[in-house]
Amino acid sequence: MRQVPVNHATKTMTIHDFKRKKEQHTKITMLTCYDYPSARMIAESPIDCVLVGDSVAMAVHGHASTIMATMDMMVLHTEAVVRGIGPQFIISDLPFLCHRVSDVDTVQNVRKLLQAGAHAIKIEGADPHACQTIATLVTNGIPIMGHIGLTPQSVHQLGGYKIQGKEEEQAQQLLQQAQALEAAGCFAVVIECVPKHVAGTITKALKIPTIGIGASVETDGQVLVWHDMLGLQTEFKPRFLKQFANGKDVLMAGIHKYADQVQHAQFPTPEHAY
Ligand code: KIV
Repeated sequence: MRQVPVNHATKTMTIHDFKRKKEQHTKITMLTCYDYPSARMIAESPIDCVLVGDSVAMAVHGHASTIMATMDMMVLHTEAVVRGIGPQFIISDLPFLCHRVSDVDTVQNVRKLLQAGAHAIKIEGADPHACQTIATLVTNGIPIMGHIGLTPQSVHQLGGYKIQGKEEEQAQQLLQQAQALEAAGCFAVVIECVPKHVAGTITKALKIPTIGIGASVETDGQVLVWHDMLGLQTEFKPRFLKQFANGKDVLMAGIHKYADQVQHAQFPTPEHAY
């Protein structure tokens, strides 16, 4: 009998599919995506959803932190991803401080990302102000993904890119934050860099799915940064990161071959000339 690929989605995932996947114990696959050619590749893959992450500021623009991401940057990259993507659900990050402004300005920022083509918005943090903002946005019909644990926009307050929730009190706080985000109406929550037991406790306590990065296999899904997991950069190698391809090696070999052939007049050959 002909095998049908089990994982390849044919219709765009919705927020309801996130919950259904959790209920059915089907892992959610998420990857960051920042541009059209990557989106074209993901479109042909079984990946469920993409995050136009503010990590674009680091991975693509070479900044030292995600604090440098701007609304213009996020809109431009969201639009490029939207043009290339397939049935994947698209979540865009609200950049640094863009929900710490007036309600009117917050709504304007969110509107820009949704009109760029995002299906949902990710917001870092779960303090009372963030939860209130999230609740207001959800009431206005905007799907929101939360993000707790190591929240890179707060890197300076956290004192660096460190594992969160190692102490019992911190772990309890993370659980309360996750529950507050669920109560505010988030359809899913990213948990970044926390110990396995903390990720497990939070995942069991919530009805909405958790998506982990550096949070063990206990979460309902996983997310990794495109350039990290494809080995397109080799400088940043935290313990949680698995490199699934040697992207840089493959590309470097191509670049060297091209330079060599041009230098030795081996390219273009007649077949590449008019
Ligand atoms: O911006 C990003 O890439 C993220 C993921 C690490 C979750 O927020």
